[in-house]
Formats: sequence, C-alpha cells, structure tokens
Amino acid sequence: MSLHLLHSFPRIELLGAPTPLEHLPRFSDYLGRDIFIKRDDFTPVALGGNKLRKLEFLAAEALRQGADVLLTAGAIQSNHVRQTAAVAAKLGLKCVALLENPGVHSENYLSNGNRLLLDLMDTEVVMVEALHDPVAQLAGQAERLEAQGFRPYVVPVGGSNAVGALGYVECAQEIAHQSLGVVDFAAVVVASGSAGTHAGLAIGLEQLLPETELVGVTVSRKVADQQPKVVALQQELATLLELQARAPITLWDDYFAPGYGTPNEEGIEAIKLLARLEGIFLDPVYTGKAMAGLIDGITQKRFRREGPIAFIHTGGSPALFAYHPLS
Ligand SMILES: Cc1ncc(COP(=O)(O)O)c(C=O)c1O
Repeated sequence: MSLHLLHSFPRIELLGAPTPLEHLPRFSDYLGRDIFIKRDDFTPVALGGNKLRKLEFLAAEALRQGADVLLTAGAIQSNHVRQTAAVAAKLGLKCVALLENPGVHSENYLSNGNRLLLDLMDTEVVMVEALHDPVAQLAGQAERLEAQGFRPYVVPVGGSNAVGALGYVECAQEIAHQSLGVVDFAAVVVASGSAGTHAGLAIGLEQLLPETELVGVTVSRKVADQQPKVVALQQELATLLELQARAPITLWDDYFAPGYGTPNEEGIEAIKLLARLEGIFLDPVYTGKAMAGLIDGITQKRFRREGPIAFIHTGGSPALFAYHPLS
C-alpha cells in the first residue's frame, strides 16, 4: 500500500504546512462524542478553503503549459472561483470566471461575500443564464480568449479532475500522520459537491486508514447522481497513482434540501452551534449542511463504528456575508 507517486506530480506551494487537526471539546461535550476538525478553512490564501489544495496541482499544470489566464466557472458565491482568482493574482495571471445564479436573489447574494472579493481581484466575470454544460461553455470562452491572443488554462468546476483531487489524497496523508498514536477515527465526514475532495480522501484513506469510514454529505445531488461522479474520479485518481481503489463510496443525501445554495434550518443550526461553542464559522452552502449530517448521523446511529469523528472544514465562511440575514 503506497502513495509513492503523489509527490512526483508538479505542484506550486500554496499551503506551506499541514492544516491543523483540532479537537473540539465543547462541541464534543454537547454531542457526547469526540469530534475533531481538519482546518482546511485555514489554508493561507485569500480566506482559505479546500480549493487551494487542488490548485497547488492545477496551477502548476497551467504554468507548465505557459498559460496566462486561469479560466473557470461556478455560482455567484463560489468559493472555488474566489480561490482560483486569488491564485491567479498571486501568480500574475488573469482570471476569467463564468458565473451563474443558482436561484438566490437577495442584494447581498449578488454583490457581497465572495462576489465582492472577485471585484477586488479584478476578475473578469462573464454572467451566464445557467452552467448547463460547463465543459462546453468553458471551451467556448477559451476559444474567445485565444482569439484575443491569450493562453487560457481551464480549471474545471470545483477544481475536480484527477489532478486537482491529488490535493485531497495529500489531505488524507496529513490526517493519517496527525492522528497516528493520538486518535483512531471511526469516521471522516466531508461535504461532497463537485466530488474532487471526496474522491481524493477516499483514495488516501483507503490506503492509510482503511478502518475509518468516509462519509460524503451531498450538497447538490441525490445519491444516484452523485455516486457515479465520485466513483469515476476515484477510479481516475487510482489510475493516475497506479493503485487499486476498492473502497465503497458512502453518500448521505438527506441534508441539502431544498437545493444547492439555498440554506436550510438544520444547516443554519449547525452554523450557530459551531460559532457559539467553538468560535468556528461554517457556511450555509457546504459545511453547515455537512455538519448537520454529522450531527444527525450521530443521533440516528448512522456511523458504522463508535469512536471519534473528524470533520473536514472545507471553508466557505466568506459566503456568510452574502446570506445575511441568515434564515
Ligand atoms: C466550502 C466548500 N466546501 C466543500 C466544497 C465541495 O468540494 P468538492 O467540490 O470538491 O466536492 C466546496 C466546493 O466548492 C466548497 O466551496
């Protein structure tokens, strides 16, 4: 069992050091179960988040290809687009973003939070009615930019291809090192969206902590639609790393209603709990809903084993300002 190829892929250094893995004493007391949190909201560029791990690998590929533009797509309040724009700024590249509105129409949603930060970074924003076929839409924009003399590099939605997902194989490696001799995790819980974070963790944990259950809490799709996305990336990553991936993909889809980008009561309650008990900010689109899954999973005894649980804090708190008032 080995991840020896992981360090053979070109990367640019954005993190610099492992993110903290912290015990949450007051939240653990509240739930009657030991909860740890992996602080990927703490990654040290532009208010942090999970995409920076993926961008270490994706931006390296862009630079190798001689790109002068990072081109990507997402929702108006996309954390992924904010982090891509920040990496472009840091590397002296232009950033172009296709943005869609997932159906939230408050003034704050349209202009505050992540959207405000895009303007500060001089991101070129192209509004689209919907990202109905992001691959084709991004290819169309790439053609437009090439005709203008640019050399765009397309960062897929969420940074979720096999190269980007390498970043989360590395996160699993950090968790294995940080927990060694300290804590035996029964489960790891993560939000599952464009699926790169989930797939990368699945590969890494299968190799390094095979007794730990990985649960992906969906934020936009039912299991029947999300499962093939995660499995496809898991298998692509396995091929890239010359490994066998046999771990089943576990998904819980009971916590994202009414839909992507629209907050729900359980998610808001989870945000308030973490803020009140630990001074940690979750977000209404991803981590609040994933944490609602963790809390309910304990109540409903959905986890396979007893024992401590690690929650991956994938970031997203800048979007809180876009969802004011949070209700
Ligand atoms: C805060 C946050 N958490 C989780 C995710 C989901 O990660 P992935 O798209 O890799 O599934 C995202 C993706 O945009 C995010 O911004």
